[in-house]
Amino acid sequence: MKIRTVFIGLVAVTFSAIALAQTPIVIKFSHVVAADTPKGKGAEFFAKKAAELTKGKAKVEVYPNSALYKDKEELEALQLGAVQMLAPSLAKFGPLGVKEFEAFDFPYIFDDTAELHRITQGPIGAALLAKLEPKGIKGLAYWDNGFKSFSANTPIKTPADLKGKKMRIQSSKVIEEQMRSLGSLPQVIGFGEVYQALQTGVVDGTENPLSNLYTQKMHEVQKHLTLTNHGYLGYAVIVNKKFWEGLPADVRGQLEQAMKESTVYANKIAQEENDIALEGVKKSGKTTVYVPTKEEKLAFKKAMAPTHIKMADRVGKDLLQSIYKETGFDPAKL
Ligand code: LMR
Repeated sequence: MKIRTVFIGLVAVTFSAIALAQTPIVIKFSHVVAADTPKGKGAEFFAKKAAELTKGKAKVEVYPNSALYKDKEELEALQLGAVQMLAPSLAKFGPLGVKEFEAFDFPYIFDDTAELHRITQGPIGAALLAKLEPKGIKGLAYWDNGFKSFSANTPIKTPADLKGKKMRIQSSKVIEEQMRSLGSLPQVIGFGEVYQALQTGVVDGTENPLSNLYTQKMHEVQKHLTLTNHGYLGYAVIVNKKFWEGLPADVRGQLEQAMKESTVYANKIAQEENDIALEGVKKSGKTTVYVPTKEEKLAFKKAMAPTHIKMADRVGKDLLQSIYKETGFDPAKL
């Protein structure tokens, strides 16, 4: 073999080794909401932190607005490895067979974020994430969005105002029962299709944290919004377990640190984003924003309380009791 050929071969091998060393590990992070929401901003923050802390060894590509996968498909895509990271709402794990997360959907179970964090940042939250492992999924963190409020095209002041209304819900049986307790007709619709469903009258109303309502422009097709803050909506940030455990240990450690910092950031901005959204909705003048009185709020609480009794078995009575113990909520007292 000529010396020149050997030299060219060596150069080629060296270059491809360098190329290989420089090829970043790509993490596709798919989600269904807009980029300018608590989850959207949290995902972007994680992408930036991950690049910084891994010094470019990992590259997080964020796909917002159901651009890659919709509600129904995204968990399957994660299990198959078509994407590596998601942050579905806790109300969307039922179809996967982990219905315990629906404990977060019970109406009025958390008075505020501080109460909620006792669960998400404590042993109950950790035990729930561990339930994903047999499904090939690893839970990394909980990210907040906020508390949901009802909207419709007719005023909502009493529970009776929602009677007979077709209400869009996420795929949670607990939320389904919550809507039935109000006499409304729940319909599961993927997040990406909600605006159109409201616009065309497929459904009459829905429930959302304000950041989701505003960034999807749902307020433009809903005349009335009542700040009931009756239920929580937040996320589990999850990864394909095999992919995660197969990462080089140093990169995985750096990504864990990036996730820790992103969680602090996402949870810090969540309330701010929802406050900004409320201002935006008010300014738009398209929706009347109603703040219920204490008595009106209590009427909603009482009307929805039977959900706690009817759906206790869905998530497990013990789990529900352990959450009540932390939050002080007692449906029997309503
Ligand atoms: C919804 O479907 O309403 C939410 O789960 C969307 C989201 O990810 O916040």
